[in-house]
Amino acid sequence: MLKIAIFISGEGSNAVKMLDNYSKSNAIEVALIYSSRPNKHLKALCKQLGVVFHYSLWNENEKINLLELCKKLSIDWVILAGFLKLIPESFLTHFPNKMINIHPALLPKFGGKGMYGMHVHNAVIHAKEVESGITIHYVNGSYDEGQIIAQFKVAISEEETPETLAVKIRALEHKHFSDSVAKVLIPSRH
Ligand code: GAR
Repeated sequence: MLKIAIFISGEGSNAVKMLDNYSKSNAIEVALIYSSRPNKHLKALCKQLGVVFHYSLWNENEKINLLELCKKLSIDWVILAGFLKLIPESFLTHFPNKMINIHPALLPKFGGKGMYGMHVHNAVIHAKEVESGITIHYVNGSYDEGQIIAQFKVAISEEETPETLAVKIRALEHKHFSDSVAKVLIPSRH
C-alpha cells in the first residue's frame, strides 16, 4: 500500500475527491491531509474516515514538524491539491520526484508565483484564449515548473467569464486528478 499526504491551502474539494476515490483502492491510502489554513469541514471528514488531519502555519518550525510527521506516518508521495506555498528543499530531498501538483491552466502559460485560483482564470479570459485546462506535474523548487505528467483541455466559449471557466476547470480536476496520480504511483495497474 502506498501512503500519500495531500497538502492544501484552500477549500479542499480535490482532496475530498481523492479521499473518496482512494477509499476504494487497495494500492493507495490517504494517510495525511495537511492544511496551511484552518478547514473545519475537512478536519471533521478526516476524523470520520480515520485520516490524520494536520493544520499549522507554514513557518520554518512547522515545516520541520510537518516533514517529521510525514516520516512518522511513512508517507511515500505528497500530492499538492491547491497548495499555495513554495516547497522547500528539505521536502524535495526527502520526496525526490515524489511530489505532484495540479494547476488550473495549461502550463507553461499562466503559471508562476501569484497565479492561483481566480487569478489564473481572470488572466486566461483577459488573454482571449480559446482553450484552457489543467496541468498535473511533478514539483520542483519553482512554482509550476516541474515536468508535466498530463494535461486536459476545455474549450472557452465566446460568453465565457472567469466564474464559468472556474466551474469547468473544477469539474475537469475532479474527473482526472485522482486517476492521473494513480497512473504515476501504480503504473502496472494502468
Ligand atoms: C484548484 O483549482 C487547483 O488547481 C488550484 O487551487 C484549486 C484548489 O481547489 N491550484 C492552484 O491554483 C495552484 N497554483 P480545492 O481546494 O477546492 O481543491
